[in-house]
Amino acid sequence: MTILVTGGAGYIGSHTVRRLQEIEGKVLVLDSLEFGHRSAVGDAELVVGNIRDRSLVTELCRSRGVTQVVHFAAYKSVGESMEHPDRYWLNNVAGTVDLVEGVLAAGVKQIVFSSSCSVNGTPADLPLTENAPIAPESVYAETKAMVERILAWYGVTHGLRAVNLRYFNAAGASSDGVIGEDWSRSQNLVPLVMKATLGKRPPLEVFGTDYATPDGTCIRDYIHVEDLADAHIRSLSYLRDDGVSTTLNVGTGTGTSVFEIISATERISGKKVPYTISPRRPGDPVACFADPTRARATLGWAATRTLDDIVRSAWLWHSAHPDGFPD
Ligand code: WQD
Repeated sequence: MTILVTGGAGYIGSHTVRRLQEIEGKVLVLDSLEFGHRSAVGDAELVVGNIRDRSLVTELCRSRGVTQVVHFAAYKSVGESMEHPDRYWLNNVAGTVDLVEGVLAAGVKQIVFSSSCSVNGTPADLPLTENAPIAPESVYAETKAMVERILAWYGVTHGLRAVNLRYFNAAGASSDGVIGEDWSRSQNLVPLVMKATLGKRPPLEVFGTDYATPDGTCIRDYIHVEDLADAHIRSLSYLRDDGVSTTLNVGTGTGTSVFEIISATERISGKKVPYTISPRRPGDPVACFADPTRARATLGWAATRTLDDIVRSAWLWHSAHPDGFPD
């Protein structure tokens, strides 16, 4: 029983690969290394290739005895998706069709898909449930919504069973500090806070302090990347136990503001976080956090790590790896 992990050299992928090796055994990573890091994969087998290469995917599944797939490989920059939509339609959507055709040709019919709460756009009601309207506000988010529907249709035409995991704000690093979030490209809040505190970039810009929230800054559901990895492990077991296709919100259910992230970082690092106040960032919802009830009921999964665990693991990783991964 081998698990194929596409994009396994990336942030959430590499943390899932580590947990899979600890618990499930044989893992095969397929990654183009366009954004991933070989050193993030550890001693898991890594094949450098593209999910669009159907014959490679089929050959790998047959030769390695692949039984299930975890599909992370995708472009994920909201801003870039609006400037170069073709890259996102081709890589995220057509790439998934090629991947699915490749694995089906080898008889593999179980997949866990890396989806996103951004398929719902700006939430009308909180906490966000899986029944909220699908209303993407970017090409990136639209690709996630489209892939969910494509996987559902492969269920109708070919008996594919899928668990779509809609992530909220993945953050933190491995608790032993060995792997973490890529320094070079991430524009997400937590790594930017760490870089500013370490003096590796200009002061953080806080995008707006005039929101209708207790401290005026936006609220998000920050979930530890290791909790996310555990949700993938449980999804694979669920599918092995003949679970039907489903879509699950994987968040903590708790909202945290930008200023709360800053104060937790100052408390844990013992350093001041340098920041300036900037205008609101267009497209930012004032608040977004999950209702994780269905994930708990379906998988027996819930986030266990706290905000301090997130900030502490991020601080440990970024302090020890001031220039990110060596490769
Ligand atoms: C978080 C908060 C910003 C940077 C993410 C992923 C997206 C999806 C949902 C998976 C916001 C504020 C940020 C900065 C700031 N996840 N901020 N200064 O926009 O919630 O989206 O989660 O698919 O892919 O990107 O995450 O980290 O960019 O912002 O004030 O320099 O931090 O306004 O309130 P976001 P983020």
